Amino acid sequence: MEVVIVKDAKAGGELIAGAIADLLARKPDALLGVATGSTPLPIYDALIAKVRGGLDASRARICQLDEYVGLPAGHPESYRATVLRQVVEPLGLPAEQFMGPDGSAEDVQGACEAYDKALAEAGGVDLQILGIGTDGHIGFNEPCSSLASRTRIKTLIEQTRIDNARFFDNDIEQVPHHVITQGIGTILDARHLVLLATGEGKAEAVAQTVEGPVASLVPASALQLHPHATVVVDEAAASKLK
Ligand code: F6R
Repeated sequence: MEVVIVKDAKAGGELIAGAIADLLARKPDALLGVATGSTPLPIYDALIAKVRGGLDASRARICQLDEYVGLPAGHPESYRATVLRQVVEPLGLPAEQFMGPDGSAEDVQGACEAYDKALAEAGGVDLQILGIGTDGHIGFNEPCSSLASRTRIKTLIEQTRIDNARFFDNDIEQVPHHVITQGIGTILDARHLVLLATGEGKAEAVAQTVEGPVASLVPASALQLHPHATVVVDEAAASKLK
């Protein structure tokens, strides 16, 4: 695992967007896994700026990390709608180059298995962007998730629903209880994992991820098992590293 300490979130976004640009130069149809939430926004801003500045990302393919279960189709806070709005549309990519799990499927378990299969058939994820929860979660793999888990349905813990209420008019009642998430084993299948963490609130989770034991209590610690994992942290998020 390599750890890169940058000055702030903007610098982290630019660094990671640069790595994506290098990947697209080598592999124009690379499959890019994207996370939602606040942390990766500087990455998407920097990447969109590069495309406006001439980077050819027209063949890039995008895939989701996770999705809420049970939101009505087209709900603005579904992760499908969020990724379309924040990444796919600003990059000018057609919807056919974007894939994600179907959170409104009647057979949710079937949708999970179908997504793992679709990722494998697409050739696997080339670069997966990750954020991290204050409890060390990646995707929606909360503490105690199996490190070998595949895409599956999970129940959100109360703290994550509280954290995400900001996207639902600060009303926790509107935050779904269930999600589909790529499992930790699925995430580890990506060729390159890039985790961005910014702000003091992530410092403890970052320290445990990088310097603690590999343990299902800290799902992000599974990155230690991956041959090509990069953790990009700003100075605040790095503040508890030894
Ligand atoms: C969202 C996701 C989550 C977030 C994490 C951090 O797709 O995978 O693991 O990355 O909850 O969220 P922010 O960046 O909002 O602090």
